[in-house]
Amino acid sequence: PKLIVTTREGDTSEIEVEDGLTVMEAIRDNGFDELLALCGGCCSCATCHIHVDPAFKDKLPEMSEDEDDLLESTEHRVETSRLSCQIPFGSELDGLKVTIAPED
Ligand code: FES
Repeated sequence: PKLIVTTREGDTSEIEVEDGLTVMEAIRDNGFDELLALCGGCCSCATCHIHVDPAFKDKLPEMSEDEDDLLESTEHRVETSRLSCQIPFGSELDGLKVTIAPED
């Protein structure tokens, strides 16, 4: 499946992602080093914050309380904010568009 990533500078690229990765891993493994993902995906750092295309809102897994709390601690939370390490990527999300959130 394809994932479409927009960087903080506004550059958009399309990447082909193998199944079984999270959105965070897909972004990081494709060389977007501005997505720090400091905690490595265990939902404790919020440096994997992304804004997700609202068209995919209903297809995303529900947000846990931990994710919600962590997002609440960021400065750039918006309606479509998610932590990318909490979203497993697969064919049901083919074509997902995400934007890396501004740094806190
Ligand atoms: Fe730390 Fe997602 S990588 S919360």
